[in-house]
Order: sequence, then structure tokens, then C-alpha cells
Amino acid sequence: MQGIGVFDSGFGGLTILESLQELMPEYDFMYLGDNARAPYGEKSFDQVNEYTKEAIDWLLEQGCPMVILACNTASALALRNIQQIHLKQNHGAEKRVLGVVRPTTEIIGNYSKANKIGLLGTPATVESNSYGIEVKKFFPKVSLYQESCPLWVPMIENHTYHEASSKIQIQKNCEALLKQDKDIDTILLACTHYPILLPIIKQIVPKEIQIVTQGDIVAKSLLEYLHRHPKMDESISKNKNTAFYTTETDINKFKEKSTHFYKTISTVRHANLALNDT
Ligand code: DGL
Repeated sequence: MQGIGVFDSGFGGLTILESLQELMPEYDFMYLGDNARAPYGEKSFDQVNEYTKEAIDWLLEQGCPMVILACNTASALALRNIQQIHLKQNHGAEKRVLGVVRPTTEIIGNYSKANKIGLLGTPATVESNSYGIEVKKFFPKVSLYQESCPLWVPMIENHTYHEASSKIQIQKNCEALLKQDKDIDTILLACTHYPILLPIIKQIVPKEIQIVTQGDIVAKSLLEYLHRHPKMDESISKNKNTAFYTTETDINKFKEKSTHFYKTISTVRHANLALNDT
């Protein structure tokens, strides 16, 4: 299969995959979750870079002509290095890796009337300030306020977000973000895991604040990219197939937990990346 590779540290990328499949139903996809090493959000720059490179190498070696980094943390920390150095040195000029930060920052300013946008993300994404830098390029008038939510990915991966203590934590982070400026009118969920918390977040933040998730944004941007790059588009197989891989050795654990993010997955395989757990 020569599908589009979709990579995330764990389950979060499934929220992006769903949007890709909806907009591009003919295309084949190959999903890889590095569940054995998730979460990435509190790992160092070097670790995220190393793990992301290993995953990209694996997907490209399986025959994917291109890979979407459906993970903000990996996109924010590792994409530039992968695009500028790693791909050229190891995979030749025709392979492509695209992230989720750029397509989001290209249009996020259009959502806010007040030009004040709040961002919720992992500690690594927030500390990297990738969003701050990119948003300034496309929307110089927009002020971006960022709040890191270190406990959110673990509570989503472990499916404990319905517990009372988790809801208190979610509330704390949302309030801390909104406190940064009373005119914030848009909140970007800059982590592909966070759409799972949308119903809870909606109960917490005032109704007039719009909450933006990335699935549709990334899918539209990818489709436009493929229209602009017909050669790449031709190299992707289109048989409506999706293959699922995880670095987790317990396949059933992946199958069971993935149902909170996505429809039932009948076949999941173990991806042997020869994990380098630094
Ligand atoms: N889905 C990843 C993201 O968008 C979660 C990162 C993590 O594993 O902490 O950032």
C-alpha cells in the first residue's frame, strides 16, 4: 500500500485521520501511534526529535510517499529538522512530511474578531513557541495567549478525564488561559488529543468563545497541497484502505482504547521500530 502516513505519539492523530478520511475517502492511509512511548508532551526536544524521526523512517520505509505529523508536539519540535535535513539525507527529494502547525496558523487569525486567541497545548508545544512565531508571520495583529496542560494527554490516554479531579484540572487550565486576557474570543485546541475533551471544555468556557479543533483545517490544507502537487497525488494509492500500527506490544489495549477516539478498528498490527527509549 502507498497510503498517506499519519503519525501521532498515541491516539490523538486518530482525530485528524477521521477528518482526512471524511474529506478524502478514496485515499489509503497508514496510521502509526507511538503508544509505547506516549506522551511526548513532557519529553525533551532531543527525545521528541529522535522518536519522531524513527516513526517517519518507519512509515516511509513501508512505502508511504508522504507522512502527516498529526501531532502538535512532534510538529512543533521536530518537523523543521526532518524537512530540512533528515528527509534529504535519508529518503531522497521526492518524499514529503507535513505537520499540523503551519496549516493551522495560516488560517487561525480568521476566527478571531478581537485578534486575541488562546491556545491550549502540551508543555513542549507551548515552550517551543512555534505557534507564537508562526501566528505572527501570518497574522501580525493577533495576540496569542498560551497555556500548557501537562495532565491532559495522560488523562485522555488513560481514559480518566471523566473523573471529578480531572474536570477540576481542565477547568483550572481553561480559567488560567482566559485570565490572560478578558477579550480572548477564540480558543485553539493545539493538541490532537484534546478534541476528546471538547464536551467538557464547552461546559466550562463562556458560550461566545469559539473553540477550534484542527481536523478539518489539516484535511482541507492537505487536499489543497495535493492539488498543487499532482505528482505526489498520483503516487498515493486510492483503494479506501487504512492500516493501523502501534508501537504498543499489547494490540488489544490499542484496539480497546482507540474506541474513545475513533470507530472500531478491526485489525491493528505491532510496528517494530526497534524502540530506542532514551
Ligand atoms: N497528540 C499530541 C499533540 O498533538 C500529544 C502529544 C503527547 O503525546 O503529549 O501534541
